[in-house]
Amino acid sequence: MAVPRASIHGEWSSGLVFILAATGSAVGLGNLWRFPYLVGENGGAAFVIIYLLCILLVGLPIMIAEITIGRRGKRSPINSLRSVSLEEGRSRRWSLLGWLGVAAGFFILSFYSVVGGWALFYVLQALLGSFGGITADAASELFDTLLASPGSVVVWHTLFMLILFVIVAAGVRRGLQRAVTLLMPLLFVLLILLVGYGMAASGAFQEAMAFMFRPDFSAVEAGTILTALGQAFFTLSLGMGAIMVYGAYLSRQESIAKSAAWIVGMDTATALLAGLAIFPIVFAAGLEPGEGPGLVFVTLPIVFGEIPFGYGLGLLFFVLLSVAAVTSGMSLLEPATAYLTEQTGGNRAQAAALITGLIWVLGIACGLSLNVWSGFELLPGMGIFDALEFVSNDIMLPLGGLLIAVFVAWRMRLSSVVSELGADQDSAVFKTWLFATRFVAPAAVILVFLNATGLFG
Ligand code: TRP
Repeated sequence: MAVPRASIHGEWSSGLVFILAATGSAVGLGNLWRFPYLVGENGGAAFVIIYLLCILLVGLPIMIAEITIGRRGKRSPINSLRSVSLEEGRSRRWSLLGWLGVAAGFFILSFYSVVGGWALFYVLQALLGSFGGITADAASELFDTLLASPGSVVVWHTLFMLILFVIVAAGVRRGLQRAVTLLMPLLFVLLILLVGYGMAASGAFQEAMAFMFRPDFSAVEAGTILTALGQAFFTLSLGMGAIMVYGAYLSRQESIAKSAAWIVGMDTATALLAGLAIFPIVFAAGLEPGEGPGLVFVTLPIVFGEIPFGYGLGLLFFVLLSVAAVTSGMSLLEPATAYLTEQTGGNRAQAAALITGLIWVLGIACGLSLNVWSGFELLPGMGIFDALEFVSNDIMLPLGGLLIAVFVAWRMRLSSVVSELGADQDSAVFKTWLFATRFVAPAAVILVFLNATGLFG
């Protein structure tokens, strides 16, 4: 199979759009909820420093590798891996790595969509003014009632999937590109407004700064490094072909390494800004930062119910959360949709409908596992939601990332890689990247993987 010159799905109209789209994929619940919470639990600034090292030494090299495969192949991850491996004189079985990614995308999106649905539900609650003067008990009850209601969970998950379907079915230019050029600036504006409020009005900005940037290395344990590395993967959307398929739509003129540096930089900045937006609000209300899943859905509504401008800020926040979840969810739907479109001769809307439908069904199972099926265990001690999250995040993503690094750094010809990256083979930057991709990233991923399977740490 020859490698096509251009993607049949179309291309981003510029390198900037690619950066926006990939940043949209990367910036999601991982940044706005998980990152601040992990910072709180793992020694504040000490964790931030380790996390930044993981992003730089493992995340950035693998992101460059993933985009390289995508742009070289110009198709869905499965077909790109097949054609690039044949072109490089390697086994066509590398396409199985694409299948691994498609499967991971199904699993991740099925629970991601359930949580995305919660975000939409909270937009409605914010609009209705439900947070005004809400007590801690009432806020917990609001969240618990949502989770306990199979009808609500399924309806909001359905709405979230429908939004993704409409965008992805419309295609690369008319769907994905239009959505990110509209939503990403909105996301940054909302985030900056929230940070601005934290700085100017909350009276707790100093406290939040100290919490996030004053290192306490005594809180760092062996597991902290592995937590930081796992978070680096998830937050950068690496390991399942999302970034790879977006790379397939990138024009040959654009620099892969520069784009990757921008994406990684913006994702990291967003995570840090999310902390600086959320913690001042939490501290100003005298609440605990290490709240876990409750931080966003239980703690913040209490805060929004008390503070000045709480109605507007609450609405802003949940719109921000929903927008971030939508632009991430799109990228989880795209690899499988692109593959099916290629295999069936090009009807993207039908392909998107079928893939959306399958994930929707799996998502219903995730949603119901929180209430009516809560007794059922898919894996020991884990319901459907938790089991899919565990298998995809802790096993499939690290494995996918490892294989992507191995394929590009060990299986592709150096000349192909050099030409795709437009790099100077003797430059220090290229050599550093190659070393990181050959040795550092695989070794680090193996550690995460062992940790996830419980054999280590
Ligand atoms: N990065 C997103 C977040 O932080 C989630 C996400 C989107 C993702 N696409 C992905 C994670 C692909 C892993 C793989 O919320």
